[in-house]
Amino acid sequence: MSSNKKFAPVNTAGIKRNIHHQIQVVQQRGAYAGPKRALIIGGSSNYGLAARISLAFGAGAKTLNVSYEKGPSSISQGTAGYWNNHFFDQAAQAAGHPAIDILGDAFQLTTKQKVAAQLQQNGGPIDALIYSLAAPKRLLPTGTLVRSVIKPIEHSYHGTLIDIHKDVLQEVQVPPATAQEIQDTITVMGGADWQDWVQYLAQKQLLAPGFKTTFFSYIGTAATQAIYRTGTLGAAKKDAEQRARHLNQFLKDHVQGEAIITVNQAALSKASLAIPGFLLYLASLTAVQQEESSYESPIEHEDRALRQMLFGSQRNLDAQGRLRPDAGEVAESTQTAVARILQQVTPANFSELTAYPFCKRLIYQLNGF
Ligand code: NAI
Repeated sequence: MSSNKKFAPVNTAGIKRNIHHQIQVVQQRGAYAGPKRALIIGGSSNYGLAARISLAFGAGAKTLNVSYEKGPSSISQGTAGYWNNHFFDQAAQAAGHPAIDILGDAFQLTTKQKVAAQLQQNGGPIDALIYSLAAPKRLLPTGTLVRSVIKPIEHSYHGTLIDIHKDVLQEVQVPPATAQEIQDTITVMGGADWQDWVQYLAQKQLLAPGFKTTFFSYIGTAATQAIYRTGTLGAAKKDAEQRARHLNQFLKDHVQGEAIITVNQAALSKASLAIPGFLLYLASLTAVQQEESSYESPIEHEDRALRQMLFGSQRNLDAQGRLRPDAGEVAESTQTAVARILQQVTPANFSELTAYPFCKRLIYQLNGF
């Protein structure tokens, strides 16, 4: 990050409110037996933040979070993620759940070294590592900067964007990725860095017996597959899913531990907003789930995934051994209703037919507005 970069304006009072609201959601569900010492990679927003809130306020964990955020300076208020960390830390410390943040690039060995040093000074091994990174680029040790792309593979993708500044629909065509772009996206968003983190901490004797780690994946359905699951991001997720099997065996042998994929449901975040056509899908899905009374906010979703599945006894596993808290999203009845909406959507009716007004509020909420 360049030191004089400007960031989107943030409303810190709103960010504080959002954090406190998420904490309340977890507290209302009560305590659960989970890790006491957890590392979250990418814990400053959306799913990583939700996991951190759940682990601290649900399981009573001390949390260490690595995220790529910027604090305030003379020209900028800092990023929303920085303020999420700040208000989370304040609330967690006040409630007796020690919280530490390391702002830095998770891909770098120096960041891994900082985390190991921090853990060694503060009680040693961890019980859990949540990997929730969504990164646009990765600097390799060779000095090469690799960028991920969000593109289909083999065929062009044709989709519909919502321009949130003008509230209008816009058609978009995305050409297929090149072989290099596919490889680069796997390098950035695949499972290699997750594996590096776990193996590095194992080597430093920083994984406690019974240690568990999860990587957040996405599968989706027919409505999203051309731009996601069969596209570059899907290729990266499949890479992580493949690595999970080896990592699981490694942890089993090493600390009687576990590595498992959690397939989360689609949610509005900085990362998902970058996916062409995803907002219209999300707005349609949200309308259906609100109608079915099955809508879950990211904190409701992630807290359920952790307390009931990863650390609980109500695991919903698929044939590939992945945790599937996203079962509601991919249910046939839900997707039939989503497909019906997507077929009927026009520039004139999309705002009424979908939950776009609600989703637009969520987008502004990401920065506290
Ligand atoms: P997000 O954009 O809200 O958060 C990304 C996090 O990664 C932030 O904490 C950011 O600071 C951190 N980060 C980015 N680059 C970094 C770097 N180089 N070093 C350290 N930290 C860095 O993303 P979101 O949506 O919560 O996604 C998190 C994970 O969940 C991703 O792997 C995503 O694919 C997965 N997921 C997301 C879904 C969605 O619909 N949002 C659905 C299912 C899975």
